[in-house]
Amino acid sequence: MISKVYTVAFEGVSANVVTVETQFSPGLPSFSIVGLANKAVSESKERIRACFQTLGFSLPCQRITVNLAPADLQKEGSHYDLPIALGLMSALGIVDRFELEKYIVLGEIRLDGNIAAVNGVLPAAIKAGENNQGIIIPKACAKEAAWAGEIPILAADNIIKIVNHFKGKQVLSQPQPVKMLVRDTKHGDFQEIKGQAQAKRAVEIAAAGGHNLLLIGPPGSGKSMLAARLPSILPDLSPREALEVTMLHSLCGIVPESGLVTARPYRAPHHSASLPAMVGGGSKAKPGEISLSHHGVLFLDEMPEFNRQTLEALRQPLETNEIAVARVNKHITYPANIQLIAAMNPCRCGFYGQEEKQCHRAPTCAKDYQSKISGPLLDRFDIILNVQPVKAEDLKNPNIICGDSSKIIAERVTMARALQNTRNKTSPDASPGVLNSNLDGKNLYEQLKLTPNAKIILDKALDKLGLSARAYHRIMRVSRTIADLDQSENTDHPHVAEALSYRQMIIGR
Ligand SMILES: Nc1ncnc2c1ncn2[C@@H]1O[C@H](COP(=O)(O)OP(=O)(O)O)[C@@H](O)[C@H]1O
Ligand SMILES: [Mg+2]
Repeated sequence: MISKVYTVAFEGVSANVVTVETQFSPGLPSFSIVGLANKAVSESKERIRACFQTLGFSLPCQRITVNLAPADLQKEGSHYDLPIALGLMSALGIVDRFELEKYIVLGEIRLDGNIAAVNGVLPAAIKAGENNQGIIIPKACAKEAAWAGEIPILAADNIIKIVNHFKGKQVLSQPQPVKMLVRDTKHGDFQEIKGQAQAKRAVEIAAAGGHNLLLIGPPGSGKSMLAARLPSILPDLSPREALEVTMLHSLCGIVPESGLVTARPYRAPHHSASLPAMVGGGSKAKPGEISLSHHGVLFLDEMPEFNRQTLEALRQPLETNEIAVARVNKHITYPANIQLIAAMNPCRCGFYGQEEKQCHRAPTCAKDYQSKISGPLLDRFDIILNVQPVKAEDLKNPNIICGDSSKIIAERVTMARALQNTRNKTSPDASPGVLNSNLDGKNLYEQLKLTPNAKIILDKALDKLGLSARAYHRIMRVSRTIADLDQSENTDHPHVAEALSYRQMIIGR
């Protein structure tokens, strides 16, 4: 007799159902796992053998064959332990095989029968819901699975509890999603930044329209400080976005205790980050920083210090909002709809442009340093801003409260985003609309609602500045966001003029 248990294999964020078939057959005692299993999966049998010994179950002195079907799908990860162990128990008649077939099973087992947390529980639970199945998971992942909707969930910290549940001795209770979600307030406030009114305005516009922003300025001018305060003005994720983001975090095993990521992601990888760490993939197929920033912000501080190849790899996802990672025999795609914020010094010594401080190699040193950022990458920034050093009089006044608080800016950002959500629909029944930064083609021209005066300025800029088509469209998008912050239906000439002022060319370009 062959027993069947269902589990999943991950391909990008999608979970594919894998059937664990177990058969005992006559012959010399052996235990083999077949079906394109990687090392972690084939080591399962040692963990299971030891676990059965501890719990007092004995495996039959027969040939044990476990097949993970379909056989051509790569099986990676440690979550196959529990389905294989339950498959054996079902073949031995310890648990009811028909009851077990109603669930998708994930979990890593320890030698004492305890079940450890695994990655990818949320995508698996969503798959179970689609298939009208329940899910059996480690107790530590219960809250995460509860966000997948109304599906039966058995969350246990020990394999014995699952056996007892099926025998009716100790019924496991259904976990509930956490209701209270507390907004993360550990970020600083915009009011702590003295002076820098233009830079603050640029960050607000970037936040409102989801625009890519590059800050160039001398050390200590507050670039990192500005970027670090961005999360304090970004709206929380919508329920749909939260689920998408949590799925990606789930694949990396970094879901918060509540089981759901609700704060907009803000990732700031160090410049030593490798290519797989940034874009995903590598020996274990996992989303990279760019996908972990999906629906949020990827901040690259000291951008020219990043490996060139790593930076160039961001170009394609910045256009397509997803990243395709090559694996041994196929491509897997992760979503990567991000807002890129980058900061850099104007040159290696950092003071290019300040007569009294710049080094004797200026402007060559600035040209060399800035040429580390390629033209095509630069073209993908909607806003390029030269941040000036903080003015002495701004700094000296200890009581000065500068500009609006993050709370007030966040309200303006939320309002501007609400306008975009109702207006920027890609089709009449699409909901919600896209952010201005994602407007494209016909939709961009339609939603822009450019006044004749604004068109004159825009056309002049195109002739004078020799803009690329991409840069031209980016200015249009930023103008639209400025108009939205102004609660204006049309995009008028002051909006376009301000957008043009945020395309400060970097040296030699
Ligand atoms: N505008 C400002 N207002 C108040 N403090 C500032 C400002 N700019 C810089 N600082 C101070 O200088 C420190 C360094 O700023 P940082 O943002 O790291 O500079 P940068 O990234 O431009 O080199 C901050 O932690 C803060 O204490
Ligand atoms: Mg810095």
